[in-house]
Amino acid sequence: MQPKRITVIGAGTMGNGIAHVFAAAGYNVSLVDIQQEFVDRGLTTIRKNLDRQVKKEKISSEQAETTFSRLVGNIDLAAASDSALVVEAATENPEVKKKLFADLDRICPKNTVLASNTSSISITEVAAATNRPEQVVGMHFFNPVPVMKLVEVIRGLSTSEQVFEEIMQLSRELGKRPVAVNDYPGFVSNRVLMPMINEAVYCVMEGVADRDAVDAVMQLGMAHPMGPLTLADFIGLDVCLHIMTVLHSELGDDKYRPCPLLRKMVAAGKLGRKSGHGFYDYA
Ligand code: 3HC
Repeated sequence: MQPKRITVIGAGTMGNGIAHVFAAAGYNVSLVDIQQEFVDRGLTTIRKNLDRQVKKEKISSEQAETTFSRLVGNIDLAAASDSALVVEAATENPEVKKKLFADLDRICPKNTVLASNTSSISITEVAAATNRPEQVVGMHFFNPVPVMKLVEVIRGLSTSEQVFEEIMQLSRELGKRPVAVNDYPGFVSNRVLMPMINEAVYCVMEGVADRDAVDAVMQLGMAHPMGPLTLADFIGLDVCLHIMTVLHSELGDDKYRPCPLLRKMVAAGKLGRKSGHGFYDYA
């Protein structure tokens, strides 16, 4: 696939990271969100991350400028109408996603591929909201997107082999390592990661060890770059709870039961880095 222009829907953490890597790989990118303020915030974050890469001498300032010049912000979904690929990274709400995919199906040319960066919603289900389910695919990136090498490429029930292979190849062009995954709750990444995080929260709740000890065990004993509670704060405790809830309800197994302490922290508004408080304080 040689899409000249791609559209990313959602300018939040994942969306702006995805837009960043496509622009850095030479694509012209429309970054779309529902409010100008969100678009501006996303573009500012990309600028900051490009500057960080320049400071670390990973890229030149000319490369940063060229990359940034390939990005255009927009608050109108119609910006997707000339894109060969749309990557959706909007809020993790199945109804919002299904409506978005139905709208994109109407707006985009027949051959446009519609990809979702969802972490836990069924690709098959969002594909069913369109008249082109064979052109709907999962493209699951990892935070921070410019740094993490993995893309889970998810086959929905109807995804065509051609579209699947195009997205695998495109991911390689972005400098990522794509892995093939079938459409089951949490895919591979979150089916393995989230129960580990959930269990770490149980360890704190049950007094097996305190927060710092739990993180130290996994960081120093298993060489994880962050302990599970630091990582939970980084991802967002609300996101972790949401994914555990999906695993629990879709797979129907109590081994995925969200930890009551995780529920309590989300109820208290302690969502991790983004709210300033989680297992750690970020004031
Ligand atoms: N954009 C560009 N570059 C960035 C960046 C960003 N947003 N954030 C960090 N970097 C770069 C830094 O410039 C630095 O580059 P260098 O090594 O070439 O100098 C490198 O990343 C490391 O950054 P720092 O030195 O600032 O910090 P750390 O060494 O502590 O690394 C980390 C930070 C990369 C976040 C590391 O701690 C890590 O890998 N943590 C685990 C992250 C993880 O597991 N992510 C997956 C979350 S799950 C998910 O996203 C799926 C979803 O469905 C829930």
